[in-house]
Amino acid sequence: MKKVLVIGGGGREHAIVDALSRSPKVGRIYCAPGNAGIALQAECVPIKDTDVDSLLEFARNEGIDLTVVGPEAALAAGVTDRFRAAGLKIFGHTAAATRIESSKEFAKVIMARYGIPTASYRSFTDYREALEYVSSRPFPAVLKYDGLAAGKGVVIAGTPDEAEAALRDMLLDGSFGKGKVVVEDWLEGPEFSFMAFVDGHNVYPMPLSQDHKRAFDGDKGPNTGGMGAYTHLPFITAADEEFALKNVLQKAADAMVAEGCPLSGVLYGGLMKTADGIKVIEFNARFGDPETEVVLPLLDSDIYEIFEAVASGSSLTSGLEWSEDVTMGVVLASKGYPGHYDKGAEIVIGADVPGCFIYHMGTASRDGRLVTSGGRVMMCVARASSIEEAHKAAYSCVDSISCDNLFHRNDIAHWALQ
Ligand code: AMP
Ligand code: GLY
Repeated sequence: MKKVLVIGGGGREHAIVDALSRSPKVGRIYCAPGNAGIALQAECVPIKDTDVDSLLEFARNEGIDLTVVGPEAALAAGVTDRFRAAGLKIFGHTAAATRIESSKEFAKVIMARYGIPTASYRSFTDYREALEYVSSRPFPAVLKYDGLAAGKGVVIAGTPDEAEAALRDMLLDGSFGKGKVVVEDWLEGPEFSFMAFVDGHNVYPMPLSQDHKRAFDGDKGPNTGGMGAYTHLPFITAADEEFALKNVLQKAADAMVAEGCPLSGVLYGGLMKTADGIKVIEFNARFGDPETEVVLPLLDSDIYEIFEAVASGSSLTSGLEWSEDVTMGVVLASKGYPGHYDKGAEIVIGADVPGCFIYHMGTASRDGRLVTSGGRVMMCVARASSIEEAHKAAYSCVDSISCDNLFHRNDIAHWALQ
């Protein structure tokens, strides 16, 4: 029986741990640092996800057979490179391959060079030149800081004043760091997430899902890490999916091989269906959160075998099997998120709702009580044969949770329920 270490401590990692717990090959699961929900299914170890030295020492001492990386920060910190150099098996891209997410400019260069459809762009380090270019283009302007910026690196500026303030922030004041900005054309259309396991040229797609990025109902309010997700998107045809697989995911995988930094983990295409076809908004080098929480429950194949094959660079012997069921999930977040919020509010979970499970995102255990410990706190995920049934069950599950410092959106999956 195999020993697996999962790095990270959010809802995505809870879904990964849950999927691993269904594998007959897996004996023990560790999670660093994990959270109070993950602790019910794995042994949590208090190591920060970017503390590569300690993670390596732990994996060596425990005789871990396979490590699975959740967050991009750990990948960008070179956790894969270090584990591989030490002869340990790990699922996740090298730091060089992670640039497809960690550098907006690198991603745009790759897309331009290999003909992957995306908005046209220019990049700048000089504030005046950037401002001049933005002023010469139609508004809104899309300004992307070139680096990991914890979800705060993208500004959609509706007016010249907003663009000036954002460029000042990114290029003059140094509040973001080294200062490089990608300015790209604004696109319009529904967004969706297309994830795949990728091992060099081999791309194994997962079912499509859609996130809800804004904090409040009606897609209003500030951008968040994601307030809910569902599968089976009504606005994407089989032809769209085939196009995206061939012209986005497969082309990106091949491009990274050609560039000498092959992918070996999850590639996440943040895509938009525009009037002019499907375009890439962003790439991520990891599982999406909250998308993973609705996608992985549908995997009928053994996830350990997939992780193991990708980590070893050996192709999977058969295609992946996915359930036809529909899933949807609602995120419960701390009041105030994505701005300031308090931690430590007590959470009481009521009776189980059939067909539902709760993934923990930011929870902790204090003196035997379950308390909030993050912005996004937990996600109620329902699985059913139709979106209507899943919707009803997911919101019953939300109602079964008592906590006076949480809020959620009431319109998750509204696209599919119209
Ligand atoms: P990103 O971090 O690149 O995913 O950007 C965050 C959000 O900004 C995306 O989910 C989109 O809603 C929006 N966005 C990014 N780029 C564009 C674009 N070129 N046109 C319109 N919206 C965009
Ligand atoms: N849900 C968006 C992301 O994981 O980046």
